[in-house]
Amino acid sequence: MLQELTQIAREAGDLIRSARDVQSSAAEKTGPRDLVTKYDLMVQELLRRRLLELLPEAGFLGEEGEHSQSLRSREWCFIVDPIDGTTNFIQGYHNSCVSIGLARGGRMEYGVVFNPYDRELYAARRGGGASLNGSPIHCQDRALDHSLLIFGSALYYRELVPQTLGLFNLAFPLVQDVRRFGSAALDLCYLAAGKAGIFFEARLCPWDYAAGALIAREAGCMVSQLDGSAPALFEKSSILAGSPRAYTALLQQFGTAKEN
Ligand code: IPD
Ligand code: CA
Ligand code: CA
Repeated sequence: MLQELTQIAREAGDLIRSARDVQSSAAEKTGPRDLVTKYDLMVQELLRRRLLELLPEAGFLGEEGEHSQSLRSREWCFIVDPIDGTTNFIQGYHNSCVSIGLARGGRMEYGVVFNPYDRELYAARRGGGASLNGSPIHCQDRALDHSLLIFGSALYYRELVPQTLGLFNLAFPLVQDVRRFGSAALDLCYLAAGKAGIFFEARLCPWDYAAGALIAREAGCMVSQLDGSAPALFEKSSILAGSPRAYTALLQQFGTAKEN
């Protein structure tokens, strides 16, 4: 299965790389921060067709479509972001990816995240470890002050600005430095590959984190909501993830700040 998912992610990646005149095809969804292009829709259509050919009985939850509640009752369900990092895609930053998660019985079973520009393909199967282009990857083992923080700005939720900035103020003095890359799925894979130690974002959708969270976990990272509880598979969720040492230290800081 992982091999087939990988192949389909590569096909979707080819479509992303073939995109032309991306800026002129961008339209606003809910406002100027929330954009979609014709390529998001085309890639999702390709993924829906190819993934349901592979597993016809599965449900399909993709960012660019109606979100049916009945998905939860299916044994298998794909959770897909056709282009994670749409703003990067539109602006010509080559930090976007295809994200394919496959859940079984309410638990993530497979995850594939592919950046078609640098051809980095991250993959994991539950219990089978995580890989980058076929080689095993592992999270860092560093203290928080030696860890880079990748920060997600939860940009679609204005009501979360105070919380996001409050968490940022707490975390920034404690970490080595901060990065904001613009694709949550890749952010989680960078933790898995040991390119950074810690990540948080105050709200993400299931398609942003489903595959990346499995890959991070399989590489040894801890992944939870900001309060340490498990994210629900089909719900929007905050995410705190990182190497065990960095994660534990920042979770404690966030918890202590809440109590005061
Ligand atoms: C977004 C990216 C971004 C994150 C947002 C996501 P999109 O996904 O992952 O890094 O900060 O919260 O919604 O809209 O580019 O698919
Ligand atoms: Ca996304
Ligand atoms: Ca997207």
